[in-house]
Amino acid sequence: MKILLIGSGGREHALAWAISASPLCDRLFIAPGNPGTAQCGENAVIDIADHRAVIAFCRLQHVDLVVVGPEGPLVEGIADDLTAAGIKTFGPSKAAAQLEGSKAFTKELCAEFGIPTAGFGRFTDAAAAKAYVAAQGAPIVIKADGLAAGKGVVMAQTLAEANDAIDMMFGGGLGAAGAEVVIEEWMIGEEASFFALCDGTHALALASAQDHKRVGDGDTGPNTGGMGAYSPAPVMTKALEAQVMADIIMPTLAGMTKRGSPFQGILYAGLMITAQGPKLIEYNVRFGDPECEVLMPRLKSDIVPVLLAACDGVLDSVSLRWSDEAALTVVLAARGYPAKPETGSVIHGIDKAAALDDVLVFHAGTKQDTAGSILASGGRVLNIVGLGKTVAEAQTRAYRGVDAIDWPEGFCRRDIGWQAVKREREG
Ligand code: AMP
Ligand code: GLY
Repeated sequence: MKILLIGSGGREHALAWAISASPLCDRLFIAPGNPGTAQCGENAVIDIADHRAVIAFCRLQHVDLVVVGPEGPLVEGIADDLTAAGIKTFGPSKAAAQLEGSKAFTKELCAEFGIPTAGFGRFTDAAAAKAYVAAQGAPIVIKADGLAAGKGVVMAQTLAEANDAIDMMFGGGLGAAGAEVVIEEWMIGEEASFFALCDGTHALALASAQDHKRVGDGDTGPNTGGMGAYSPAPVMTKALEAQVMADIIMPTLAGMTKRGSPFQGILYAGLMITAQGPKLIEYNVRFGDPECEVLMPRLKSDIVPVLLAACDGVLDSVSLRWSDEAALTVVLAARGYPAKPETGSVIHGIDKAAALDDVLVFHAGTKQDTAGSILASGGRVLNIVGLGKTVAEAQTRAYRGVDAIDWPEGFCRRDIGWQAVKREREG
């Protein structure tokens, strides 16, 4: 069959790598893709914001399945438009993508269906928000309602910080995303990302992962899209996983169906494992990036039949096999990321890194010039993935790969996986 994958990040390179390995996949297009995805299929120049252009491409190329990687096009309703045109699409409808597109929507769903999450208030004016903060006290968490590319959350240690964040958001500092503000109780615990594949009615637990959001070693500095990740997350035991499925994922699917917008696609739950059990921080409606880069290498089953089963509402008829091995990815970012990444520098050594045993390289913000050199073209540029029997072994291999890359204008964290490695050592 012919498959079109939408997106251009490290997540899409990992997905393209997994999809292209399927015997069911005769031809894979990636739009717009990156130099890494071009090794797995054919990059296609389509304006993905123009849904009619995407539909026309699918008709011309007889595409049988579209897989949508990032949240942006989903929130814009690409799955609705493709489905209406009779094209099978993996990913939620615009209405279902509200689980990521609006934090207030998700909090209301949690309240209605008894899904454990932080206590919260919703506000459309600064005075009421500040009065709530004053009554609740600090520390407290201030969030812009809409999509803000990972910049919409302020963890306020003091009332002054909370009030500044409220003024910034209502003052238009995050554009339309800040027109409504959600204020939450600050939860204490260890974070984990949990992924479930959903077909509207059924859900299949995928694996867990842990992300490193801060830019600097020791979890310091500003938040980023993610500087590295590993899977599985040792904090997510089998028992916890079952609890998350029963108390969080299944009630969410039931609630979405009851609201008339069943959820089909990847439900990515950001969890806080608190003393009272797992609680939902937020949902995303897609694979995490860089979490996808550590999930795909661990997936032993063919991904294509599973994606098709999700589209067809028959996920109860499939199961998945996972490797017991750990995978760990280190993100190489361009100097200046996340504030102002410097792009355009040449990266050497990618082939050398990729040739190492148990090392994979997934491209993100790269481009190829006419001479064939790979240049940095974004903030997060490359993912170097190591595989091993333990997270510690995967970490050693990933950094061996990192050290094979010659790119003075790039940087990475040197401590990805520290929590899991510490846990393994303490055994
Ligand atoms: P989000 O964009 O909602 O995932 O939030 C980004 C990060 O902020 C999360 O990964 C958490 O580390 C932190 N965070 C968000 N909400 C809370 C909360 N209510 N309590 C504690 N930490 C939070
Ligand atoms: N790594 C965090 C995310 O994909 O949202």
